Amino acid sequence: MTPSPAQSNAVPLIRADGPPLREFVHRREAVLKQLKSGAGGGSSSAAAGLIFAGDHTPNLAGKWRPELDFLYLTGLETEPGAAVLFDPSHPDPKRRIGLFLRPLNPELDRWDGYRDEISSHLRAATGFDYVGRTTHLPMFLRSAARRLKRLACLHTLATHTGELTPDLSVFRKVSERVPGTTIEDRSMLLAAMRAIKSPAELNLMRRAAEATAAGYKAAMGAIRPGATETTVQRAMELAFIEGGAEGTAYGSIVGGGINATVLHYERNSQVLNEGELLLIDAGAQVGGYACDVTRTYPVGGKFTPEQRALYDMVLKAQLAAIRAARPGKRMHEVDEAARTIIDAAGYGDYFGHGTGHQLGLHVHDAEPDAPLAAGMVITIEPGVYIPELKIGIRIEDDILIGRDTPKVLTAEIPKTADDIERAMSGSTKRGR
Ligand code: GLY
Ligand code: MN
Ligand code: MN
Repeated sequence: MTPSPAQSNAVPLIRADGPPLREFVHRREAVLKQLKSGAGGGSSSAAAGLIFAGDHTPNLAGKWRPELDFLYLTGLETEPGAAVLFDPSHPDPKRRIGLFLRPLNPELDRWDGYRDEISSHLRAATGFDYVGRTTHLPMFLRSAARRLKRLACLHTLATHTGELTPDLSVFRKVSERVPGTTIEDRSMLLAAMRAIKSPAELNLMRRAAEATAAGYKAAMGAIRPGATETTVQRAMELAFIEGGAEGTAYGSIVGGGINATVLHYERNSQVLNEGELLLIDAGAQVGGYACDVTRTYPVGGKFTPEQRALYDMVLKAQLAAIRAARPGKRMHEVDEAARTIIDAAGYGDYFGHGTGHQLGLHVHDAEPDAPLAAGMVITIEPGVYIPELKIGIRIEDDILIGRDTPKVLTAEIPKTADDIERAMSGSTKRGR
């Protein structure tokens, strides 16, 4: 009889609702291939690369999320301290991509969650041919450095005021111990990969958009004079979950009146007043992927003529920017399309932020140093914030760059002033 590993109490390592395991394997193989051919192509300049999951001291300090490059390459969300080593010239092909996990500690596991021993089961569950413990990583890395003499930084580079990135910090030590080792910058490699979404990723982003739409519908039903920003937020976030989300993709911004002019408002605690606008910037997360939407609502259900004129101007700017979001364009050109309209209306000084950003595993996802390309998902979110009038208006959608026309993933959420008023009057009849 073939022995089978003891029954596992560990949580599944890869979430069932995320991209399939083979997609993670393909992503790692693509990284290995690029490291093998070197920064400028050619086989003589292969380099080793290292990606860390990041550390976590679980103490009910909130749910841990790994470094997103690690998550993108492994799908592992419950292994703080883990690392992936790419060693493109290892003589054993099975050890060219290795996963290193913290050693088991059965006592700690009773606090933090059960984990499995290394076995064929763990290799199959993670899709790695080699799984070892982090205690072995230093030897593997020294061996790679001796053979290759090149180490490639994959983590996004820190600014000079920030902490050294974990791979660079380790590589500096290795290069002091292995003579002749050089360190190179390949930090755009993963940003470029993450920017182009696979069908599985797009499916998750569409589902995140659906859950977000359910949330905005609930929010519209909860907005009325005398309600609070908190109650609107609660109604919306509950509907995210009921709509299939695992939670919010970032801290929701729900700001009425003057609060709508505060770009990163997070108190969400004030009473909503008739005649004011309420700005909601929120998004659901599904399978690890973010949605990021902003809508601006009249608290009483009807825009004043002044509010409507400003709203229509921002909407015109947003639609112009969406039309400009085509393959080959740079984000500054998309920004220009929106800014020209807001400038021409005389409100340029009230539009103090950029028009959009990449979206994916993070709400502000890795920015590739490249023009827009089919398969990227970006936000487009012009706004004007006028404290003197206690008016803040932003309109934000998530846009899939297509080969021809851009596709608005969040189009289901009412956006024109007329559609908003209609939707709010509908929810008034139903909900109040
Ligand atoms: N929710 C943050 C942003 O729109 O960029
Ligand atoms: Mn947003
Ligand atoms: Mn955004």
